[in-house]
Amino acid sequence: MTISPDAFTFVRELVRAESAIVLDPGKEYLVQSRLVSLARTAGHRDVDAFVRELSTRRNPATLRLVVEALTTNETSWFRDSDPFTALRESVFPTLAETRPHRQIRVWAAACSSGQEPYSILMTAQDTPELTGWKVDMLATDLSQEMLDRARSGLYSQLEVNRGLPATTLVRHFERAGLSWRISPALSSQVQFRQLNLMRPFPPMERFDVVFLRNVLIYFDLATKQDILRRVRQVMAPDGHLFLGAAEMTMGVDDAWERVPAGSSSVYRIREEHRSCVS
Ligand SMILES: C[S@@+](CC[C@H](N)C(=O)[O-])C[C@H]1O[C@@H](n2cnc3c(N)ncnc32)[C@H](O)[C@@H]1O
Repeated sequence: MTISPDAFTFVRELVRAESAIVLDPGKEYLVQSRLVSLARTAGHRDVDAFVRELSTRRNPATLRLVVEALTTNETSWFRDSDPFTALRESVFPTLAETRPHRQIRVWAAACSSGQEPYSILMTAQDTPELTGWKVDMLATDLSQEMLDRARSGLYSQLEVNRGLPATTLVRHFERAGLSWRISPALSSQVQFRQLNLMRPFPPMERFDVVFLRNVLIYFDLATKQDILRRVRQVMAPDGHLFLGAAEMTMGVDDAWERVPAGSSSVYRIREEHRSCVS
């Protein structure tokens, strides 16, 4: 059974209003499959009945769960690998030449269950130029459930198998029953916080590196433009932005330029737009 058109419209508008995620017609199957277990837990026989009650009662906690259920949290260790090589071989060494305070600030802006910010910190540890440096990591996501998982630092065998070399596993994790726990040395460097990218950012100190990967793809053009413009305002003028492999700034916010970084590329604020960063 698939979700009815009315229930789909309600969920689509809710998710758009609360997260900016666009669920185009044709995504009915996705909504149905993501909401079925929430519906059952709430004691409903099907998703339509669950959504009907939700639209009348508008219980804030349930509305949040529905929005979170419609986020896609796919991630892995050192995802796509090239950005991490670029960090180690190009971006971190460049920053090391220009930061006299021996401190770097990084923001992982849609961190899901934490593999991305932890992979960045592991890469920093593998960068000789950063030996003895302080790396401050802010990791944010819309989903409380993902943030709770990321904070716990606990990963299943299946999860550590996705992209983590055995030597890195031994170096940065300890066994916790059937799972693996990230070392306190790494987890203590990350501040996890909920942040909805579609809303104005809270006051933040400037970041030297921003990872904004595999999240803009879910938004419409105006939302992407707005987010990229606001990211410029929280970046150091010579900062480095990483997007996902299927994302780009071209035709979205041309104040960014794509520049080579090692065998990969990063986005930097064009010289003529740097003065606008106040
Ligand atoms: C596909 S994951 C990407 C994770 C990681 N950046 C990576 O590339 O592996 C997308 C993440 O974006 C988050 N997200 C979706 N909409 C968001 C929003 N409006 N604000 C903040 N995070 C959002 C989701 O909760 C999800 O964890």
